[in-house]
Amino acid sequence: MKEAYIGVDLGTSAVKLLLVGPDGRILNETQEEYPVYYPHSGWSEQNPADWTAAVARGMKKLLAGADASAVKGISFGGQMHGLVILDERGEVIRPAILWNDGRTAEETEYLNTVIGKEKLSRLTANIAFAGFTAPKLLWVRKHEPENFARISKIMLPKDYLAYRMTGVHCTDLSDASGMLLLDVERGVWSKEMCEICGVTEAQLPRLYNSYEVVGTLTEEAAAELGLPAGVRVIAGAGDNAAAAVGTGTVGDGACNISLGTSGTVFISSDTFGVDKANALHSFRHADGGYHLMGCILSAASCNKWWVEDILRSEHGVEQAAMPGRLGRNEVYFLPYMMGERSPHNDVDARSMFVGMRPDTTRADMGLAVMEGVTFALRDCLEVAKSNGVKVTRTRICGGGARSELWRKIVAGALGIPVDTVTTEKGPAYGAALLAMVGCGRYATVREACDACVSVRATVMPDPVLVEAYGKMYNVYKAIYPAMKDVFKLMK
Ligand code: XUL
Repeated sequence: MKEAYIGVDLGTSAVKLLLVGPDGRILNETQEEYPVYYPHSGWSEQNPADWTAAVARGMKKLLAGADASAVKGISFGGQMHGLVILDERGEVIRPAILWNDGRTAEETEYLNTVIGKEKLSRLTANIAFAGFTAPKLLWVRKHEPENFARISKIMLPKDYLAYRMTGVHCTDLSDASGMLLLDVERGVWSKEMCEICGVTEAQLPRLYNSYEVVGTLTEEAAAELGLPAGVRVIAGAGDNAAAAVGTGTVGDGACNISLGTSGTVFISSDTFGVDKANALHSFRHADGGYHLMGCILSAASCNKWWVEDILRSEHGVEQAAMPGRLGRNEVYFLPYMMGERSPHNDVDARSMFVGMRPDTTRADMGLAVMEGVTFALRDCLEVAKSNGVKVTRTRICGGGARSELWRKIVAGALGIPVDTVTTEKGPAYGAALLAMVGCGRYATVREACDACVSVRATVMPDPVLVEAYGKMYNVYKAIYPAMKDVFKLMK
């Protein structure tokens, strides 16, 4: 091993680490878990110290038996929007408030109505969603003023790793886009948004492109991680942009679907654009361009809940679901386990099954879970289509994408071919490619993708299924509007 790069994906349930050779070959991989805390209903928090400890443990396993001196660069994909705040000594002030935390309903409402969606969209290209970082800052200011007064540095989850490794307070443009503090079109912090949130630019991280070097490993970090000091640290990206790089979703019009804890429809673009209603996020991409993205808060996590917590089974619905069942299910499932982000922007939305009869089986319900998640992604795609965005095929990644059944459902319910790539490793692989670009192995992100990413298999949409799912989608999309007021009563 002459040369190697490390991609770190700081996820919600675990950190995944990949060791990748200069030709994109995966040399080793490892994963370390950590807890999510739900201190109140709808809240979700993590301890940044758990992240750094997991990275240190994982790095030792990743490098066991490898020549660590061959490692040239390290980069990140990270869960987006989480608020990490440090005091002037660099100590974490309170647990990180995560992307799927719904405590900021009031602050989100304030931003969208009092400041106004039009102004937010003009300043940041986005409106407020409960999981975004700016509403969290307003929440801390109101509910924990003593913590707010101590803030010296504000950062996103993966940036905490870079900070501990290099001492540099940095972020990248793709992840910064989800803070509602960035002027996305120009790629600079919005002074007005900083004022609205009561923070200064000095408290915010320095902005980099995802593929830029932010610093090198300090002696102390190098010793802890078992790497040589001086390894380059590259800014990295929000996990969806990193995953898109990992599946080669770069340039104009390419699409990637991620079926992880969250689910996303990610549409890459060379030019800046905003959807009329701001139902989709308009963010920077890690390739230097832009993207539109719909994010549903619960995707493969719904399936995990159904199979592990409810059925208490080790097997998914895969075996139980006969091929003939697809497109004929009379049971529907709304996947809003943590409220919903795109396109409804409703923290009060809840999950539900509808349509059971005495002969309904577990398999019908399990299938409904996968179909419901897929229909929720179709909701996002429909918004893109109504804005004139053409998506003719998609790549797919994330834990849920490993299921052949689910890929078939996605192809049928969205009516487009679904490609999987040979090196599907989610954001960690994209992070490793960004590290290669930062170290000069490839000149651009596109060049790295062209050299390292190739399509392994394609699921074509079955026309009979497309028609059947078209009809089912019409039923599905009538359920949320009918339930919306009921969900409010359940608060
Ligand atoms: C994207 C989002 C999620 C997280 C998951 O806007 O909130 O996809 O990034 O880690």
